[in-house]
Amino acid sequence: MEPTTITINGTPESTAAAPIQEPQRQQYYMEKARKQLSAFSTALGRPLTCCINTFGCQMNARDSEKLLGILESIGYQATDSEHADFVLYNTCTVRENANQRVYGRLGQLGAYKKKNPHMMIALCGCMMQEPEVVERIKTSYHFVDLIFGTHNIFKLAELVSTCLDTRQEKKHRTVIDIWKDTDKIVEDLPVERKYPFKSGVNVIFGCNNFCSYCIVPYVRGRERSRRPEEILKEVKRLAADGVVEIMLLGQNVNSYGKNLEEPMTFAQLLREVEKIDGIERIRFMTSHPKDLSDELIEVMSQSKKICRHLHLPLQSGSSRILKEMNRRYTKEQYLTLAEKIKAAVPGISLTTDIIVGFPGETEEDFLETMDVVRRVEFDSAFTFIYSKRTGTPAASMENQVPEDVVKERFDRLLNEVQSISAKICGRDVHTVQQVLVEEENDHTPGYMTGRLSNNTVVHFPGDPSMIGKLMDVYLEESKGFYYMARPV
Ligand code: 5AD
Ligand code: SF4
Repeated sequence: MEPTTITINGTPESTAAAPIQEPQRQQYYMEKARKQLSAFSTALGRPLTCCINTFGCQMNARDSEKLLGILESIGYQATDSEHADFVLYNTCTVRENANQRVYGRLGQLGAYKKKNPHMMIALCGCMMQEPEVVERIKTSYHFVDLIFGTHNIFKLAELVSTCLDTRQEKKHRTVIDIWKDTDKIVEDLPVERKYPFKSGVNVIFGCNNFCSYCIVPYVRGRERSRRPEEILKEVKRLAADGVVEIMLLGQNVNSYGKNLEEPMTFAQLLREVEKIDGIERIRFMTSHPKDLSDELIEVMSQSKKICRHLHLPLQSGSSRILKEMNRRYTKEQYLTLAEKIKAAVPGISLTTDIIVGFPGETEEDFLETMDVVRRVEFDSAFTFIYSKRTGTPAASMENQVPEDVVKERFDRLLNEVQSISAKICGRDVHTVQQVLVEEENDHTPGYMTGRLSNNTVVHFPGDPSMIGKLMDVYLEESKGFYYMARPV
């Protein structure tokens, strides 16, 4: 019987007569796909459109900018509508509800495709690195044209071209290309940035930490640091292009550089990035408390460009649960670190992630978390209900906490977090601060929205010509989570 899927599932060298080396190989496929799509567009008598829907974290958002860069360079025009000719879901699987959202929306996409049979539907991202997800899509969502994972997004032009080749045949097939892991980092492919004035910059891919609840190391692979020359070249190019704020990205930026031929610390990298003219603000995400060095705190305290904001996931305030989570720090170590950072960088905003209901969490453990929340006074916290991820060590732990108990703790935590943020977020009221103007205010005509160095949102009178500029504003009134201000 004829197969209904084409599984490529290998290194790019194994597939075709194109150049072997990347990125040259992809340039070959971009040219090929461009010709195929141009013929397709001529036959339809209109331009082809594409839509990327991104789920999950900043890493996925940055990947989507790269994916869009490739799609635009082969001839698609971006649209927000899922009635586009090419629809791609860049998925997340960190919690189960992210998966359920994707399945829910896929059904809708299938209905669109019935009306528009030449439409192409593609899925990529973390969820696709799970074999049982791919099996489910193969059996229940036959209309999907392309599935690829997190390690080979640079191959999108090649994969689209393969899909277009298979369309020449009568039978519908799903092209599947998922790599288990990779040591490859492909540079110099097109990127389409969402904002002209700010950009993410990947510094390290993957994660080696294996926190016991977390699926990320299984779907994003082992840590791979980009070479500093490549990072600095990209940041210089961004600065020349008008970018003033960059966000250095990694699952754990603090382990940057350990595996480079010439090892380098993240703090050393920051010092180099800081020297680049035109870049006015530097952010980074995410920091693991166990790896946050004194050297980094010193660089933050001396820097004029590094923003006064640190996202430092706590996960739990109980040393016993932290051990079960394999976080490799204790409650006391976290508290000491938070104090040290606050003392070194006055006015810094600390934000965090917290999981409620990890297996075996008792009321006493939960109260330890509440205690840390009260003592550190986070500016904001993302709070999550523990989600069981198949294949992680925590999924097979005994003493999973009953749903109603978790929900009750979650509500208490959320209340506490919100009342603390409301109390402390307004601490800069009646001072002049610098904002980066980001967009027009959605609700109030004649108002603009920007962000302070510490990431707090500010609204003030202005016009769109200010977008992308750094300007001083006087913070007139605190509204809890944001300020009303006026330009000075
Ligand atoms: N359940 C709930 N939250 C999780 N996170 C990661 N894995 C899980 C899980 N299985 C949270 C962590 C992490 C954030 C990105 O997602 O708090 O920091
Ligand atoms: Fe997941 Fe832990 Fe790695 Fe963060 S550090 S991505 S929580 S395993």
